[in-house]
Order: sequence, then C-alpha cells, then structure tokens
Amino acid sequence: MQPLGSVVANHGGARVGNPDVEDAGAGDDGRMNALIVYESMYGNTRAIAEAIAEGLGGAKVQSTREGADGSADLLIVGGPTHMHGLTTSGSRRMAAQAVTEDGHGELEPDATDAPGLRQWLRDLPKAHGARAATFDTRLDRSAALTGSAARGIARRLRRRGYDVVASESYLVQDSEGPLEDGELERAL
Ligand SMILES: Cc1cc2nc3c(=O)[nH]c(=O)nc-3n(C[C@H](O)[C@H](O)[C@H](O)COP(=O)(O)O)c2cc1C
Repeated sequence: MQPLGSVVANHGGARVGNPDVEDAGAGDDGRMNALIVYESMYGNTRAIAEAIAEGLGGAKVQSTREGADGSADLLIVGGPTHMHGLTTSGSRRMAAQAVTEDGHGELEPDATDAPGLRQWLRDLPKAHGARAATFDTRLDRSAALTGSAARGIARRLRRRGYDVVASESYLVQDSEGPLEDGELERAL
C-alpha cells in the first residue's frame, strides 16, 4: 500500500492516479471530490486532516459528528492511535481526564460528544470498490510498539466495501502533541 503523501504528491495533488477512477470520479473542473473525516481529541489529527485537504487543493474536511453520504470519489479517514488501535469510549475518557489533570493541552470541541471512529465506521453505508485512504497520529516510536489506528481503520473500510489504496502515520512528540517537526508539511 502506498503512503498517503505519495498518493497526493504523485497525482497532481488532486487525483489518486487510476485512470478509470479519474474518468468516473473527477468533476467538471477535473478535481477529485475527496472527503476527509477525522477524529481528534487534542487537535493534532485535525491539523493533519486540514493539511491533507490543502495538499489536495481543497477537499471537504469534517469530524465524525457528520456522516458520509457516499458521494466522494476518495474517502480519507484518520484518527489518533489509542491503546494500539482506534479510540474506545474508555480511551476517549482517559484522554479527556488527562487534560483536566495535567492542566495543559486543550480538548477539541467534538472530542467527547461526537461519535468515535468505531461508531462512525459502523454507520458508514456500504460501498462497492470506492477508493479510500487512511491515516493516524501516533507517538514517535516503532510502529510495533505504538500500534496504528490507520491499520484498523483500513480493515474496517475494507469490510464496508472500500478499496484502501494508501495509509500513513503522522507522529506526535507527546500524547497531547505537538506534531513532530515536518509532519504537517509531509501531509500537504
Ligand atoms: C488514552 C490514550 C492512549 C494512547 N495510546 C497510544 C498508543 O497505544 N500508541 C501511540 O502511539 N499513541 C498513543 N496515544 C497517543 C495518541 O496517539 C496521541 O494522543 C494522538 O496522536 C494525538 O492526536 P489528537 O490530538 O488528534 O487526539 C494515546 C493517547 C491516549 C490519550
């Protein structure tokens, strides 16, 4: 599977490179209609989602508060890695508590009241080979130690009928961030 950055970089910033998909999916202006959906407790994953959108020449970015209607040509889904995988209601609570206890960092407005990605992915309508890509944020250690939410998101998207063409992890310095130097630029 390709890294997400190369999918964006290799295809003019707006396409994923499969001629069939381009013909079928590009709008009148030739741009791919991409939708980026993120979950984020502290804002790092949201920042990556926004950078990916910018790299694609302006894609729609939304949190898990909104569902997907299946009209995107490319669905890009990302979230923070919690306990080696996707967040759970317990890990979301722990993330929220950590901010209250540490007194540093700030919770995203959607952090506790929007559904987590597990729920969002369960509610996602089935697709038939539509293209998707996944990303996560995680700590800057070997993936064997940290796990990766992007892998779990990809598995779930495949079960919903998506063709997952790329996956990427972006690294944070500490649990609440910030992102490591250069990660935002890598997402563009
Ligand atoms: C409860 C909890 C569990 C976590 N578990 C992991 C983990 O297993 N592996 C990892 O690399 N990072 C882990 N982290 C760090 C998160 O990946 C980090 O908080 C996240 O990338 C920040 O993204 P956000 O600002 O979008 O929430 C954990 C963080 C929390 C709060």
